[in-house]
Amino acid sequence: MRKRVAILISGSGSNMVSLLRDMSDRQHPALPCVVVSNRPDAGGLAKATELGVEALAIDHRIFKGDRAAFETQLTRTLEEHGTEIVCLAGFMRVLTPGFIERWAGRMLNIHPSILPLFPGLHTHARAIDAGMAIHGCTVHEVTTDLDAGPILGQAAIPIEPEDTPDSLAARLLPMEHKLYPAVLRRFAAGDRRKVSLLG
Ligand code: GAR
Repeated sequence: MRKRVAILISGSGSNMVSLLRDMSDRQHPALPCVVVSNRPDAGGLAKATELGVEALAIDHRIFKGDRAAFETQLTRTLEEHGTEIVCLAGFMRVLTPGFIERWAGRMLNIHPSILPLFPGLHTHARAIDAGMAIHGCTVHEVTTDLDAGPILGQAAIPIEPEDTPDSLAARLLPMEHKLYPAVLRRFAAGDRRKVSLLG
């Protein structure tokens, strides 16, 4: 049986699209069951619909800072769709320990740095400022420690002397689009070997 995957987004959803395209292969060990955005204006919602996947928004602002109430609604939606694996793909809300524990061992995230370096925000600028020669992205299991769960795969690219945070982010994104589907394929099949990609 293919595992049912929900994808959570907040923005353009380019990583989500790469996951959906990969899962359009009928031999894939997982299939998408729903895409949820916490922002009704997220560009990714229309892209998911175009790809034939149900997409809906749960606007976090309605809950006026009550994270648990937002997550109760989110959990209900995920359960209604029979979700077995949750993929965070540019989902920019901090999740409470209660939600994370509910999906322990079944929730993945992609982060734009070579963890454990540069957890949190502004990763591209921080890698340049630190004088790094390489940068990259990581897919990891989500645990209650921010950006610190078990690493399932990483991709690396060189940092060029003329790179800006924007140029570096733009060169990294295509690697994210290769890494996340490669990790999800293994993860959904129960294969915990790490994926490593060099660009
Ligand atoms: C991606 O670069 C992803 O790694 C990053 O947000 C972007 C989302 O782009 N995620 C984080 O920073 C998580 N802390 P997308 O919406 O086009 O996939």
